[in-house]
Amino acid sequence: MTQDELKALVARAALEHVVPGQLVGVGTGSTVNHFIAALAEIRDRIAGAVSSSVASTARLQALGIRVFDAAEVQRLPVYVDGADEIDGQGCMIKGGGAALTREKIVADLAERFVCIADESKRVAQLGRFPLPVEVIAMAAPQVARRFAALGAQATLRPGVLTDNGHPLLDVRGLAISDPLALETEINQWPGVVTVGIFARHRASVCLLGTAQGVQTLVF
Ligand code: 5RP
Repeated sequence: MTQDELKALVARAALEHVVPGQLVGVGTGSTVNHFIAALAEIRDRIAGAVSSSVASTARLQALGIRVFDAAEVQRLPVYVDGADEIDGQGCMIKGGGAALTREKIVADLAERFVCIADESKRVAQLGRFPLPVEVIAMAAPQVARRFAALGAQATLRPGVLTDNGHPLLDVRGLAISDPLALETEINQWPGVVTVGIFARHRASVCLLGTAQGVQTLVF
């Protein structure tokens, strides 16, 4: 199976985690795009969706799925999203698609985070994928210097502003041996909007697409 076929496989498997009659939180990215397409087949059986990006909102609405503003919602039973990397504890790097801030906001509303990913995303330790960090523009050089002090290299993602109008740093060369501690530390730095480590909001379950089919990892 191709990587895209694996993404489609796990996206469809995620339908089993959608709670009938309820809202579902929807992430962003190519794997989630397959999930949105599958979700459209059961749109009459859900109350609607809370979206994590302008792009996902447009796709959901184009397929006739009602989208609710996160600010109107107190709780979601489930949030479905992809990842750039996921480790053995369900901690993730996210933000390859620049949607990390809204993804974390919607994930925070959810009781369960269902990660959908092809097996290339499964890692023993986070950090090979460059860590996305959304920052307030005036803080970008200082935040980059803080990463340099940790032995890492932060570069602005060229030509990209997030849906919130902020630039993104991509950070290479970080050793992420303790994802929760590093997420907590980076969150303290002035000007950091969101760091793409999802340890506090780690996956409850990962549906991993493999050549043998969907593997379910419970954390
Ligand atoms: C977007 C994300 C995505 O979930 C992540 O980049 C994975 O994307 P894809 O499903 O296209 O591989 O965090 O900000």
